[in-house]
Amino acid sequence: MNHQSVLFVDDEQNVLNSLRRLLHDEPWNMFSADSGEKGLAILEKEKIDLVISDVRMPVMDGIQFLKQVKQRYPHVVRIFLSGYADHKAVVQALAEGSAQQLLPKPWKDEELREVIRGALKQAEELQKKNERLQRIINSLSSLPTMPHTYLKVKKCLADIDNVSIDQISDLIEEDTSISAELLRWANSALFGQRHQVDTVKRAVLVLGLDIVDGLVLSESVFSSVAPGSSDGFDLKAFQTHSLACGIAAKLLISELPYMEPKDEDWAFTAGLLHDIGKLIEARYLTEQYKKIIITAREKKTTLLKAEHEVLGTTHEEIGSYLADWWSLPSFIVNAVRWHHEPALCNANREIIAAVHVADVLVQHFALGSSGNYSLPEGDPEIWARFDLTEETLSSIKESLIKSLA
Ligand SMILES: [Fe+2]
Ligand SMILES: [Fe+2]
Repeated sequence: MNHQSVLFVDDEQNVLNSLRRLLHDEPWNMFSADSGEKGLAILEKEKIDLVISDVRMPVMDGIQFLKQVKQRYPHVVRIFLSGYADHKAVVQALAEGSAQQLLPKPWKDEELREVIRGALKQAEELQKKNERLQRIINSLSSLPTMPHTYLKVKKCLADIDNVSIDQISDLIEEDTSISAELLRWANSALFGQRHQVDTVKRAVLVLGLDIVDGLVLSESVFSSVAPGSSDGFDLKAFQTHSLACGIAAKLLISELPYMEPKDEDWAFTAGLLHDIGKLIEARYLTEQYKKIIITAREKKTTLLKAEHEVLGTTHEEIGSYLADWWSLPSFIVNAVRWHHEPALCNANREIIAAVHVADVLVQHFALGSSGNYSLPEGDPEIWARFDLTEETLSSIKESLIKSLA
């Protein structure tokens, strides 16, 4: 039998010793290291399923260490062992997804065992899923590359202190469909301009750089990955669904008093892109996608369940793989990955919650289509984060209809 492996990292040798003594009768392989550097060296050689790391360590602290583990071995489950549960940096690291859990130090023996058992189970599930996903990704002839216009605009935005709005506008004007899209949005009800916006430069000023970034990205992605009409995919309905979700997510975030305008803009972009995995399925896994649609229709089930049945993975997993491969910001990768299971993600929680609720709402409002034949239910705990009175819902619906007109 193949045993799973746990790596403990702590600069105090007596902590490592007591963990060894405590867990010696468990069926796991145990590795230990007294520094982050040694921990990384073990990860390089051994197949590790779970890493449990102390936070305060000299040279490379636990936060830096688990961040690196996440980057290099994203499928290894990560836990902090910390006596500083309320320490701001740990909370921040948890929010960014560097670790999935926190174990208090000193620990209670039984609790420690339970958490490790649970985490190893999670690691096993992750591995199974990952193998299926990897098989699918390997079967694609080639992964689409990030569209050129976006890369150029992104480079420009990254150097914003030395770049003028004129230069950004000139760059966008090279692409007529992106320019038209920006003008359309700048004139839409969502941005409430009293006067007609008729130049790209003015549109950039009205929309702001985060929205421009999101729109250029989504336009570029839709045009480069869009399936052909012969693939049986209704691109127009899909785009309406995505746009409506972006707008609704932005409006939901604007209802939360503690969020900033930037979060609204991020929610908009995340909403626009949340279902990109479906584009990949329809374009590159055409036959399976048709089968998914038929299965969902015949069994009156959600697309997500049908995807599990036909592909063994979902548009969330495929889409987030691509978003990650394109090095898109983590709030996009997370929204693509967790919009149907928002409670499972610790990072960008409000943005993902907004995209989740927006996705369900726009399907109930029948705006566009995401390919679902049965209306999805939202996670009630996530819904409860927003004060969705009848009045708010009808005002969101009204704004959506106006903005999409
Ligand atoms: Fe989805
Ligand atoms: Fe969706």
